[in-house]
Amino acid sequence: MRKKVTVVGAGNVGANCALRIANKELADVVLVDIMEGVPQGKGLDLLQSGPVEGYDVMITGANDYETTANSDIIVITAGFPRKPGMSRDDLLLANYEIVKNATEQAVKYSPDAILVLVTNPLDAMCWVAQQVSKFSKNRVIGMAGVLDTARYRTFIAMELGVSVESITALVLGGHGDTMVPIVRLTTIGGIPITELLPQDRIDAIVERTRNGGAEIVKFLKTGSAYYAPSAGTVEMVESILKDKKKVLPCAALLEGEYGYDGLFVGVPVKIGASGIEKIYELKLTAEEKAALDHSAAAVKELVDVLKQKTGM
Ligand code: NAI
Ligand code: 2OP
Repeated sequence: MRKKVTVVGAGNVGANCALRIANKELADVVLVDIMEGVPQGKGLDLLQSGPVEGYDVMITGANDYETTANSDIIVITAGFPRKPGMSRDDLLLANYEIVKNATEQAVKYSPDAILVLVTNPLDAMCWVAQQVSKFSKNRVIGMAGVLDTARYRTFIAMELGVSVESITALVLGGHGDTMVPIVRLTTIGGIPITELLPQDRIDAIVERTRNGGAEIVKFLKTGSAYYAPSAGTVEMVESILKDKKKVLPCAALLEGEYGYDGLFVGVPVKIGASGIEKIYELKLTAEEKAALDHSAAAVKELVDVLKQKTGM
């Protein structure tokens, strides 16, 4: 039986997710968007790339959810992206309505799917999707840590003039300016970063990583990043569909882990056929834990606003 992935939101991130899934022949794809004709047009265009690229999956577009029935994974990218000067948090209430509606519709037709959230503010939107779907915690996963870690690895590779493939790293916390790159565990071909770079350069890289999304928004002016975000999302989709059991930093619902309860926070998890198969609880230093507390508090603030304004 062929696998099926629904991508809600056929914008920049969504369309690139569909393209990457097709290129890797991971699954048939259904693109859903409220813009009439857009998912259908992009779907057909992507399908017609198959003969040239050499992929053979079905890609369809729709404005409703009927054709999404029995999807294995629902990727939610629907929502407004950040504009210059706008924080991810400004998106909160507008994207709450969109994610709530998309989740309700999608899970009605695919009650056994795994939800992969991308829409910002990411950690709060994961909470919305979990509240609405009532899915168990292994079946609601947020994409942010893979992207933030990819940016961190890229900047380190640029600084040292080495392959990005040699950099092993981990960025924890919420997807925002408070994210927590774990410098202590960052290695270059097994060598700790602290042996290769002075503290001021490491600090600059950490800061650039925290502002990695804003740096791209500043260049693009009319939207936010989508190539690396779609790559990060599809790495998670692939690990689920192929049961690869990759260990990746993802937003997961914590119920006591790391001392947080009822919050989605970026932590290392094992991703396989049943979604999040394990949450790894690292022993953090006091400084790292304080930074993670600060980041979790920023997520909690948004969830509290949602609870207060929506009664969820
Ligand atoms: P985009 O504007 O290119 O696409 C968003 C699409 O969502 C549009 O086509 C729009 O018509 C559609 N949409 C709006 N309401 C909808 C609804 N109710 N149902 C279905 N579709 C709906 O934006 P882009 O660049 O694709 O970003 C999408 C979201 O992903 C944004 O919230 C952005 O901030 C977030 N994002 C998150 C990242 C992360 O690391 N978690 C990274 C990059 C983007
Ligand atoms: C990013 O980090 C906007 O969250 C998006 O690029």
